[in-house]
Amino acid sequence: MSNHAAARAHTNIALIKYWGKKDTELILPMNNSLSLTLDHFYTDTSVTFDSSYTKDTFILNGKEIPNENVHKFLNIVREKAGISEFAKVNSTNHVPTTAGLASSASAFAALAAAASKASGMNLSRRDLSRLARRGSGSATRSIYGGFVEWQAGDNDLNSYAVPFIENVSWDIKMIAVVINSKPKKITSRAGMQTVVNTSPYYNSWIKEANRSIPLMKEAISKQDFTTMGELAEENAMKMHALNLSAHPHFSYFSPESIQVMNLVEELRSMGIECYYTMDAGPNVKIICLGKDTASITSFLQKNLPNTEVLVSSAGPGVQYLD
Ligand code: PMV
Repeated sequence: MSNHAAARAHTNIALIKYWGKKDTELILPMNNSLSLTLDHFYTDTSVTFDSSYTKDTFILNGKEIPNENVHKFLNIVREKAGISEFAKVNSTNHVPTTAGLASSASAFAALAAAASKASGMNLSRRDLSRLARRGSGSATRSIYGGFVEWQAGDNDLNSYAVPFIENVSWDIKMIAVVINSKPKKITSRAGMQTVVNTSPYYNSWIKEANRSIPLMKEAISKQDFTTMGELAEENAMKMHALNLSAHPHFSYFSPESIQVMNLVEELRSMGIECYYTMDAGPNVKIICLGKDTASITSFLQKNLPNTEVLVSSAGPGVQYLD
């Protein structure tokens, strides 16, 4: 039995978001979410379990860093596999470090695949998705490529992602606009539970998200870009409105985020169709069709000369590298 394995997983951006857990230990979300896996950003991770190791070691981009979340995740893997050896985890993030894009989705999906295989388990993609979920909610969806739905479920067994359209023939692009200013960092973990516990609008959010999922799936199936973009943009703004309505209230917007959203609206008024979404950070992601990518990026660069833009297409699911 090999005690070593390596895997690659790509990050994903939610079009209908998960923002709140009903079980914080098992990471069971309040609502279903739907995402697009991206080809441009991914994490490569190798894991070795060895009886000579005296502790878990985590190396990220060539540098050893202590990480309690990785250690806790490895404990879950060891318990499932019935082994006790410590591990060496070596990860390389192919997400530009300046991008400040969430890498926890690709990180925990790659770790779930590599660690489970190295521990001797041979998990199905569904079970890999359940395992990745224990590291980070959004990682649940990064097991699959293309458009992916995370079915919320209500226990450890029935909360996992399913592919909606894995091989995407539609020329959808996601442009990540890198915002350099750093507003106060509120982790997604802390932010979403503040909202669950204190926002008077939380129930409405769940109702709206549940209503949007089938509409989003229909729009994607019909390649109805207008409906898809409008639903995604509205869903993101509802999520951020929750943050403003929490106690204490908080926001991930920086002045530049608002500037970029205004520019997207300007592009729309010029007849170039594109929509924005934002997650637990100041970067703005623009959803557009391939034919408009060049005009959108040059408009952004003209108006915000020092801003970096990174264009992605639909990406694949988790892969083993060995
Ligand atoms: O993966 P987590 O548990 O850090 O949560 C991230 C949640 C959002 O990215 C804001 C939305 C989503 O559905 O990915």
